Amino acid sequence: MTIDLRSDTVTRPSAAMLAAMTSAPVGDDVYGEDPTVAELEAEVAGRLGQEAGLFTVTGSLANLLGVRALVAPGSEVLCEAGAHIARAELGAHAAVSGITTRTWSAPGGQIDLDQIRALIAPDLGPYFVTTAAVSIENTHNFGGGTVQSKAAYDALADELDAAGLPLHLDGARLWNASVATGVPLPELAGRAKAVSVCLSKGLGAPVGSVLAGSAELIRDARVWRKRLGAGWRQAGVLAAAGLYAVRNNVDRLAEDHTNARAVAEVLADAVPGSVKPEQVETNIVVVDLSGTGKSVARVVDEAKAEGVLVGGVGATMLRLVTHLDVSAADCRQGAEVIARLVR
Ligand SMILES: Cc1ncc(COP(=O)(O)O)c(C=O)c1O
Repeated sequence: MTIDLRSDTVTRPSAAMLAAMTSAPVGDDVYGEDPTVAELEAEVAGRLGQEAGLFTVTGSLANLLGVRALVAPGSEVLCEAGAHIARAELGAHAAVSGITTRTWSAPGGQIDLDQIRALIAPDLGPYFVTTAAVSIENTHNFGGGTVQSKAAYDALADELDAAGLPLHLDGARLWNASVATGVPLPELAGRAKAVSVCLSKGLGAPVGSVLAGSAELIRDARVWRKRLGAGWRQAGVLAAAGLYAVRNNVDRLAEDHTNARAVAEVLADAVPGSVKPEQVETNIVVVDLSGTGKSVARVVDEAKAEGVLVGGVGATMLRLVTHLDVSAADCRQGAEVIARLVR
């Protein structure tokens, strides 16, 4: 049996989720006639404390539409250096929307108000790029599934309100942040002008994300989604999986967090200092192999030969992600294999 700890995107729809998909009422969503899509969009927006939602095929598309709605071509969005929008969306915000990025750098991808304040560039006429928005990621993927605290989020939102700048929130795993902290979703998302959340990561749906924001922002994003060729028709079969996911698979994320902490403990025992278990807040464990003399690529290959799939992040970091298709026992077994290989 393979134990797949590469990502929380590798899950397969459960029998109950598939049943929900096959019985969903559907219609042509480009005509606005798919009731299941409409239900998903309204429910997710409501859960986030936002007015309206738009179902998209990916988190990358939800981010593209959300940032584009806030930032005009030729202006910039500020984000952390490891942000998904900066590193892993293949330059989409520049290539498609004409937007540039400047970054701050902080451990775990955290909000750093002093750095953000120093980066914000008001309109200086024909000399410098104007800052049009700030984007944060919660949880921060490449930072190791780290949570942005509510206090830091509130302080940033206050600062941006005063500066008249909108906040974009990449909340692909915002569900994890809420479950890990006990802070309700609207308190983590309600003050952002555009929020993306994913249904196909920890929640286990096969496809889909939702962009949420004001009704006006979502109207604009709906036009751009179609313009980019991503309007879809009887998408209710997919939205049904998303509805099932948000109704059934959020609270259980706590198990993934417990499993991730256990994985980190096994690896910290094997290679002290490679990971700090107490800093593993959600379902992502990033392990630093630089002190071991082992190459990430080699460990990934050797683990695969033993039926354990893990991923590399850069030259020295190994990433293990827990999710609903790996049990506590699978996680422990996978961690023990990796521990043996890196010790
Ligand atoms: C933080 C974050 N944002 C956005 C995305 C993009 O999601 P998708 O793969 O659905 O485009 C990911 C994917 O891993 C992510 O981790």
